[in-house]
Amino acid sequence: MKYNVCGIVGLIGEQIRVSALVEALEKLEYRGYDSAGIAFLKDRKLNITKSKGKVENLKNQLQDRLNEVIETGIAHTRWATHGEPNDVNAHPHSDCFCKISVVHNGIIENFRSLKMRLQELGHNFLSQTDTEVIPHLIEEHYNGDLLEAVRKAVLKLEGSYAIAVVHADHPDIIVGARKGSPLIVGVNGSTKGLASDVTPLLKFTREVVFLQDGEIVELSRDTVKIIGFDGTIHERNSVHVDWSYEDAQKSGYKHFMLKEIFEEPSCIVSVLTGRIKNGSVVLEEFEPFEKTLIDSKSMKVIACGTSYHAALIFKYLLENKTNITVDVDVSSEFRYKRINLKPGSIVLAISQSGETADTLESVRLAKKHGAKIVAVTNVVGSTLTREADCVLYLNAGPEISVAATKSYVAQLVMLYLLMLRANEILNDSMEQNSELIDRLMRFPEIFENSLKFADKIHELARKYKDYKHFMYIGRAYGYPTALEGALKLKEISYIHATGYPAGELKHGPIAMLGPDFPVFAIAPNDSLFPKMKSNIIECRSRKARILAVTSDDNQEISELADDIITVNSSREELYPLLMAPVIQLFAYFVADELGFDPDKPRNLAKSVTVE
Ligand code: M6R
Repeated sequence: MKYNVCGIVGLIGEQIRVSALVEALEKLEYRGYDSAGIAFLKDRKLNITKSKGKVENLKNQLQDRLNEVIETGIAHTRWATHGEPNDVNAHPHSDCFCKISVVHNGIIENFRSLKMRLQELGHNFLSQTDTEVIPHLIEEHYNGDLLEAVRKAVLKLEGSYAIAVVHADHPDIIVGARKGSPLIVGVNGSTKGLASDVTPLLKFTREVVFLQDGEIVELSRDTVKIIGFDGTIHERNSVHVDWSYEDAQKSGYKHFMLKEIFEEPSCIVSVLTGRIKNGSVVLEEFEPFEKTLIDSKSMKVIACGTSYHAALIFKYLLENKTNITVDVDVSSEFRYKRINLKPGSIVLAISQSGETADTLESVRLAKKHGAKIVAVTNVVGSTLTREADCVLYLNAGPEISVAATKSYVAQLVMLYLLMLRANEILNDSMEQNSELIDRLMRFPEIFENSLKFADKIHELARKYKDYKHFMYIGRAYGYPTALEGALKLKEISYIHATGYPAGELKHGPIAMLGPDFPVFAIAPNDSLFPKMKSNIIECRSRKARILAVTSDDNQEISELADDIITVNSSREELYPLLMAPVIQLFAYFVADELGFDPDKPRNLAKSVTVE
């Protein structure tokens, strides 16, 4: 399973200059821009420069050295997961004697125990990162053979990683290893290299090897040696890539939005990583607030846009599964209402960017009233994370397309975990809990399968693209999904779309329906399907076309809908997650068919930092 967070690169060759590594890093900047860093060997001496913020800052710091020819080097652009985005936490990280340097993309789950053990052995740590255990582990195992030391070190790591390693005493090699995060090796030409994706390598070679999980590579100027974690030699054929640079950045997808939807299975893995142990949910950050939650039996949630829809799903989840009451407000409404919060009560602020002005202002207001802020966000170091009392990170990697897709899926997974944790502490329905946990763990695979239906959704998008209006309807968990489906469609295709609770249709909106106003029905075979069925029949009798997304155990829907998209049948609370890629892909393909750029919708910005 791929894990896309930071960008790493390493180069080795005859005439490599510092500037080549910086340029390579610029190509990876779209993967993260919290900090950038470089380690290169010159005259067998390790030189490390790191800087908070964009690659530009690093470049400025290196200005006098950009032209220097080096022996080898590695570089990193960071999307922070563990530790603030600052100079100390920036990669590369080193061992005690600054001889070994490592860049890493991924998460080392067992870093705390490894760090403790290494500290007992006398190792000195500088940063808050999980990565820093890697150079110290390599140092611990180093006996003159870097490849073997890396091999022994990776055997101790749990989690996901792609790493690149240099050692001052080995100016003629770079060693890389992968488990769970991508690592691509450029294998011919006078400059060889490895990187998180092919973009920085295209300048030097188009013959690449996609390293597989459990493989280690040693690159020299003339040789490429690949071994397994067990030490056996792996023979691998290279493949020729003819992508343009832009295509490569999007991993060959036409738009970032499509790429990000296809990254959803790996995002689910990222959120779940380290969160489930021995069949129960571990949310260490949230522990100090558990007692308040049990005592108050209530929670306020604030968010905007797609995050607000995730919040609504959370309300259904928590209220249906526990006796906790959840009160959800759009942040821009909350901040102008009379605030009625008890001191110490919990306010959950959900924001992908952590920079949404209305959510931040609401957080400040809630704090003034003595509330404790629990943030769910994707961006480490964002304003929200600095102002919150506790942060639950999504670790979904940078989302470049303006439309929230993979971050929504990651939010939902985090909110399921929070609901399950609440259930655990209230000691309610443990049996159901473990079934839900099992199902969640299988979701990455289920998503991979659902995404195979993209072509069918594309076909339907072609069929429906010329309608000027859409009505999205759903009940219970399906209602926020309907809202989100309508938001996705309107924000990138500019088609008017409205989301409604299906039961509300006859209180007004049904008046608009007709042959030119299709209905997108969120209609899984759940406990409310009989009600949805009646609503669909009402719409049909107004001659509206019905496009339904349902579960594969629903036999009745074929008589009711004109077109059907099916997802795997599941427990009803999990349908919002299962149906997320369907509503996103439908909106994406409609926008693309209409000739709009889904990544940059008009009038919108990725972070809404103004009121
Ligand atoms: O970064 P946030 O989650 O706080 O952003 C909230 C909304 O601005 C965001 O979800 C927006 O609605 C997206 N464009 C939806 O795709």
